[in-house]
Amino acid sequence: MNIAEFKEGLQTKILGNTVTHFERIDSTNTQAKVHCEAHDTQEGSIFVADKQDQGKGTDGNRWTSGEGNLSLSIVFRYDEKVNTLFPLYPAVALAKVLRQNYQIDAHVKWPNDVLIGNKKISGILCEGSPNKYMIVGIGINVNQDAFSKEIKDIAISMKSITGETFSISTLCQHFLLEYENLLYGTANIHQEWIEHTEMIGKSIAISQNGNKSNVKIIGLSQEGFLQIENADGSTENLMARSGLDIDTNY
Ligand code: BTN
Repeated sequence: MNIAEFKEGLQTKILGNTVTHFERIDSTNTQAKVHCEAHDTQEGSIFVADKQDQGKGTDGNRWTSGEGNLSLSIVFRYDEKVNTLFPLYPAVALAKVLRQNYQIDAHVKWPNDVLIGNKKISGILCEGSPNKYMIVGIGINVNQDAFSKEIKDIAISMKSITGETFSISTLCQHFLLEYENLLYGTANIHQEWIEHTEMIGKSIAISQNGNKSNVKIIGLSQEGFLQIENADGSTENLMARSGLDIDTNY
């Protein structure tokens, strides 16, 4: 990514106020964390890499992001905005950007995956130190042509959908601007998330810590939890994504 070009066109006030760029690194989340532990890191500082060798995914999984994709971590102060709705913002921001700026029909899967059809184009990992800092790491598959056989049925990129190659710095500028406007503006994120998902009303196979079931998705609670109806008619809120696997074929 051309950092001079990126900074030049960035229209945000907070997100991206400090940019640390790596051509190749283990993980931008790890680097952001190391920085936050060692320094008083300004809210909005970003860590971006052209290639990650040890990208981290949710539930201890690996996130593969070779060259041509966006690997980005953003640092936030751990204050009152870091609540149960906080993880939803970046996914909604990206879904909006993909729809508005790239005409790609993106939708969000709870809590913050971004899908095209039933395949994942972006994953988000939020990691923090309570009362100190919060890091939001986002991986977006942009110009990747082909995926390994392990993930080819579940992953997709902007290029594999459109056949075009995209500027990663332009995408990053659009994303940060949308994210900033949503997070610091007056948006109703609960409503925005609902408008950008295809889950509600669907019957979906889920697995919670290995226990499989079919549930109906009935809504999103005001706190941002997924509301489900079990086969016996009982209802519950899914609060944590850890140990949870939601089938994307819905
Ligand atoms: C997921 O499993 O869905 C979350 C993937 C998060 C990947 C991003 S890429 C930038 C940041 N650095 C990391 O090591 N992980 C996140």
